[in-house]
Amino acid sequence: MDLPDIAAWLAACDGEPAPPRLRARLLVPRTTGGSKPWDCQVEDGSWYVVKSMANPQDRRTGKPVKFLATDLICGRLGQLFRPALTPQAAVVEIPPAVAEAAVHPRTRRRPAERPSPGPGFGSQLVEGAVEIKADRGERIASVPPAEVARLVTFQTWLRGVDVSALVTADRRLLSIDHGFYLTAHRWDRADFETVQVTVKLPSQLRDREALSEPAVFAPALAELSAIADESIIRAFAALPTEWEVSLSLRARAAHFVLRRRPLVAQALSALWRRGR
Ligand SMILES: Nc1ncnc2c1ncn2[C@@H]1O[C@H](COP(=O)(O)OP(=O)(O)OP(=O)(O)O)[C@@H](O)[C@H]1O
Ligand SMILES: [Mg+2]
Repeated sequence: MDLPDIAAWLAACDGEPAPPRLRARLLVPRTTGGSKPWDCQVEDGSWYVVKSMANPQDRRTGKPVKFLATDLICGRLGQLFRPALTPQAAVVEIPPAVAEAAVHPRTRRRPAERPSPGPGFGSQLVEGAVEIKADRGERIASVPPAEVARLVTFQTWLRGVDVSALVTADRRLLSIDHGFYLTAHRWDRADFETVQVTVKLPSQLRDREALSEPAVFAPALAELSAIADESIIRAFAALPTEWEVSLSLRARAAHFVLRRRPLVAQALSALWRRGR
């Protein structure tokens, strides 16, 4: 699809009723995190890992909001795979009273941090999962190669940065932490012009013999190419207006993602040659 068609489809999706925002009831600081993430209980009682609009990363870059928007878009794109490659992604509205009651305590290097009220990004908390950066190898070792191939295909497609994932109790991989994806720190239109795809592979998964076999990637690549363009574009629709990510910027970002898709197999072939 070309840019005008993408913009028209996005506008149509923006015009549909947006899914209702979840509402935060309680925010509990998580101990680590560049974006000062919160464990958040929403009104139906379920839990999300939430980043607020004035998280330290977005505060630095200002509007249009980059990190939350990219986290939400990539989280939605992961939901287009079966099984999903990301935890469920949502907009979580933080009411002022909930924001006022929450504080990340000050650390030796950083002052205390409060969340801002308004729409934040939420990733549904996956119970019993371990982030690969924190796993000492036991769980990762038992993840099947095809599952690793799905993750690498996804993160390569979306221009992952500092790529990470959760390993679930049943040994699946879920991509998380997508704030830097697509165009790194900024929504920079210049970046959309260069469509150059290079393989992204979490260092914890690097010494996998099986990844040098093209056949291991075949199902993931088939799944990626089978997703309808319209579904991909829809992931860029209905962002909170408070984030100020314009229609034209989102159309360009969606165009960028669509143009990267057919180049993923070629990028992954760097892994296949490695094994020869
Ligand atoms: N859906 C989820 N379920 C369980 N844990 C999650 C989920 N999403 C994120 N986490 C965990 O929450 C923490 C913060 O998430 P994330 O990595 O997205 O933010 P961050 O600002 O990059 O934080 P950090 O610098 O700690 O990586 C990480 O430890 C991550 O493993
Ligand atoms: Mg992280």
